[in-house]
Formats: sequence, C-alpha cells, structure tokens
Amino acid sequence: MIKSLLRIINFFFGPERTHGVMVYLLRAVGCIPAGRWIVRKIYAVEHPSLEREVFGMRFKNPIGVAAGFDRNGEIYRELSAMGFGFVEIGTITPRPQSGNPRPRVFRLSSDRAIINRTGLANKGLDYAIERLRTPHKGVIVGCNIGKNTITPIEEQSADYLKAFRNLYLHADYFTVNVSYNTTFKEYVPQSRESILEILQPLFEFRRGQDQYRPILLKISPDLPDEVVDMMTDIMIDTPLDGIVATNATTSREGLKASEKSLKSIGTGALSGEPLTKRAIEVVARIHARSKGTYPIIGVGGLMSPEDIKAMLNAGATLVQLYTGVIYEGMSLVRRTCKMMIAEAQGNDAELPANNTEQ
Ligand SMILES: Cc1cc2nc3c(=O)[nH]c(=O)nc-3n(C[C@H](O)[C@H](O)[C@H](O)COP(=O)(O)O)c2cc1C
Repeated sequence: MIKSLLRIINFFFGPERTHGVMVYLLRAVGCIPAGRWIVRKIYAVEHPSLEREVFGMRFKNPIGVAAGFDRNGEIYRELSAMGFGFVEIGTITPRPQSGNPRPRVFRLSSDRAIINRTGLANKGLDYAIERLRTPHKGVIVGCNIGKNTITPIEEQSADYLKAFRNLYLHADYFTVNVSYNTTFKEYVPQSRESILEILQPLFEFRRGQDQYRPILLKISPDLPDEVVDMMTDIMIDTPLDGIVATNATTSREGLKASEKSLKSIGTGALSGEPLTKRAIEVVARIHARSKGTYPIIGVGGLMSPEDIKAMLNAGATLVQLYTGVIYEGMSLVRRTCKMMIAEAQGNDAELPANNTEQ
C-alpha cells in the first residue's frame, strides 16, 4: 500500500517530494512506541554469517545506505530497523544550504537511473549534531562531510575541518566527499596536494583525540584510472582508513533515454544501473593496488543481490545503496541478506564435518 502511495506521489510531485514523504513516514514510525522494534522484527534479517568486523566495529551486515538518502540524519535509526547494516548521513556542510532550484532530481526509468543536481542541499552542521546527539548504540552512523558551495576552493579545507571537528564525537566514521558536487558546472581537477590539504588537518585533529574515528575518501567514477591510483596511493601513504567508491557520474554514455529527454533534464550526476560496471571496476582497481589490505565501501549501480555480490567479490568490504532502493524498494536489502545466508550455509554444508571448527 505504501509503495503504491509513493508511486502516486511520485507521479504528481516528482522524486524529491516522494523522498520527503518517505522520510516523513519513517520518522513517524520512530515516534510510535516500539515502532522501530516492530519494523525490525518484520524487515531486518539478522544472522551471524552476515556480520562483518571493519574499522574495529561490528556491522550487522555489509549493506549500508549511501550518502544523500538521509541527508540530515533524520531517519538513520529507522533505516537500521529496516535492515541496513549502517547508514552514511550527509553530505553535511558547516552552514545550511538550499542547493539548486527545484526540480533537481529526475527518474530515468528506461535506464533504471536517477539524475540529480541537488547541490549538496542540507540543513548544516548544527542540525546534524542535534539529530546525532542522543547515543545511537547499535546503529553505525557514518558522516559524509563537504564544503559549502560559496566557500572558495582555496578555503575548502577549513570547511571540512569545521564539520569534522564538530561532528567528531557524534559519528562512528567520516567520509570526506571530494567527488562530484552537482553545483559545479565543470570538473574540478584533484591533485594529490589538494586532497592532502583537506586530509592533513583532519588527521592532525584526530591525533589529539581520545577516541579514534576512521576517515574515508569518497571518489568519483569519472576519474581517469591514473587518478584512481593516485587516490589509492594517498590511502596507502597516509593514515586514511579507506575509500568509498563511487559517487554518481556526469557521463551520459550508453543510455536508453532519448536525447530530447536528457536535454530537458539538463546537467546533473547520474546514478543507478548505468554506473554498475564502472563502480565495480574502480573498486577492483583500488583493491588490487592496495593488495586487499584496506577497507573499501563499494557503491554505484547496485540494483540486485547479484550486483551486490559482484561488488563484494571485486574487493568491497562493505557496500552502500541508493538508486537500487528507489527502484527495488527496501526489500533489496532483505533479499540480499537471505541470499548471503543461504550461500554461507551452502558453503558450510559443503565442508567436511571435521573441518567446520578450523
Ligand atoms: C538524489 C541523490 C542525492 C545524493 N546526494 C549525495 C550527497 O549529498 N553526498 C554524496 O557523497 N553522495 C550523494 N549521492 C550519491 C550516492 O551516495 C551514491 O554514491 C551514488 O548515487 C551511486 O550509488 P547508486 O547508483 O546506488 O545510487 C546522491 C545520490 C542521489 C541519487
């Protein structure tokens, strides 16, 4: 019933309003006594074979929510109750910003894709702190941080540091978003120096803290392979803990949608099925170069349990979903978890009985 309601809202008001209604409904669930507990009982699949130990934290399963879905940290508890193993909120910028004019999110149904140019719209740091202030034990929350659009590039590192420092005690890990910002009309070249300029102050701040928070870098699928290698080398050479690969793409290659409809939509970052191959390729490249020794969060075009499995096989330690959930619903997590349990049990069954303890 809820799916049909959201479909009707989408038809009349578009994807962004539909998403807003979904956020509202999930928040309502959180307000009902035992609401989240009931949702967890109905939706979440839990099993020891799904658990992962990453960054010294125990994830209930490796499937998380990608940044942009719970932009302001309003529904991470409910998303966890729906069965996700972790939630990355944000991108959070120091000051609130309204982003680009609407409409700015478009469904490309023929390609099972979304084009968005939200421009990192979010309610800012103070609002996110309010949302995260009460302890969220049992729910792993990552915080994706970025710069305000009006901040000049030369001053961007101060924005990242401000968000990081203020949110430090409230999130379990941080993702530094240096990938495509949909307000940028042009590609902003990223050099090793410019990335280090953002990261070094974060490492320095962390060194003075009692508690350790992993820092990851989120990269674009549009980077040439040499730049993906450069990002991997940054991870190897510095205290960076991992990479989130990838964000959405600016490419429009191989789409089924007509030239006319693409033209009427205009600029934006493309996510969903057209991204699957490149995202997996990037993860495999990072995994190979870092010899499988660093955690990678694989994201981009994971539309089915098989896509998720392929991403994990390519070397991702954890994965994140966005567009897959829009097209397939929350059941995508449940179906994948069930498949993973069946596979783990199948593998166990194949082992000789006296091998199970080894
Ligand atoms: C509407 C929308 C908003 C997004 N906002 C953000 C964001 O604020 N920060 C970010 O790092 N990624 C953002 N993303 C990118 C996703 O986190 C993800 O990297 C990308 O969509 C690829 O995954 P997918 O194909 O599963 O959607 C957004 C994606 C969409 C569709």
